[in-house]
Amino acid sequence: MNYERELVETAKALVAPNKGILAADESVGTIGKRFAKLGVPSTVETHRAYRDMLFTTSGIEAFISGVILYDETIRQESLGGTPFPRLLADKGIIPGIKVDTGAIDLPLHPGEKITQGLDGLRERLAEYRGMGARFTKWRAVITIGAGIPSTACISTNAHALARYAAFAQEAGLVPIVEPEVLMDGDHDQERCEAVTSTVLRSVFQELSGQGVLLEGMLLKPSMVISGKQCARQAGVQEVAEATVRTLRRTVPAAVPGIVFLSGGQSSELATAHLNAMNKLGPHPWELSYSYGRALQEPALSIWHGEEANVVAAQAAFYHRSKCNSAARTGSYTPEMEHQQS
Ligand code: 13P
Repeated sequence: MNYERELVETAKALVAPNKGILAADESVGTIGKRFAKLGVPSTVETHRAYRDMLFTTSGIEAFISGVILYDETIRQESLGGTPFPRLLADKGIIPGIKVDTGAIDLPLHPGEKITQGLDGLRERLAEYRGMGARFTKWRAVITIGAGIPSTACISTNAHALARYAAFAQEAGLVPIVEPEVLMDGDHDQERCEAVTSTVLRSVFQELSGQGVLLEGMLLKPSMVISGKQCARQAGVQEVAEATVRTLRRTVPAAVPGIVFLSGGQSSELATAHLNAMNKLGPHPWELSYSYGRALQEPALSIWHGEEANVVAAQAAFYHRSKCNSAARTGSYTPEMEHQQS
């Protein structure tokens, strides 16, 4: 493989000590929904101002190894006139890009989804690499419910993830393979563990079938938690133990890092879960973050679309980044929440 050494180095750099990834790759539709909740208009310019606030936060490069961008953002310039990918690279932060084009209904399988975006992917990857991207993301969505997920849903999403990962590695871009088991539903933690295990086994079987270099990729899974509507919510220690157990059973040690999504968990809980998992180490892989909402939510609500709030919003983003960085070594404490720097 042409880019083997570069892929391995980029993957390692993304899970460098004390650092993790910021997922800022919300599609125009998703960022629009988040802005609408705050009454902020969703335009090309408000998206740009918001991403500028996040990316120009002073000092975040101590905690953020890479940022996942969306197609609109990778083509935009900062308010200071520097293309966003270059602004990040100049700070030592690796630019990445979401390359799936979203999930549609899986035919003949009500309530289930299949992620698309393979057509034309080779050409899009070459363009993104030319713009400075060095890694990519593809998200598959698995829903737990009565009689689902089906085998068809799991196998077809796992196959698409593996085909995407192969295209990304061919282009010299590290694939972040994201099979998200949604937390929506009243299922218990045990069911989440069973489904997550089945999904991860299928994903690694497909990755191996497509010849994907495990040392040159990262896995972005959900944690093993109780469904949001489940009457009994597993505690932090239970989540940490079940998640680590599941990953040890299913993820080869050749994978350099596992970077969790936050999936709708509160910011503080996502940090506490990661911290508890790292306390259970050492592990065969780095355990880190690739959070969207859990890194951004406090900053987004403070920012509120107003330039006057930028400094305070950046302080909140810096603080969440710092807490998650501490969780990489199991050294986060709830007291840190009161010491906002
Ligand atoms: P959340 O952490 O908000 O789940 O976002 C991560 C992500 O990239 C989802 O695809």
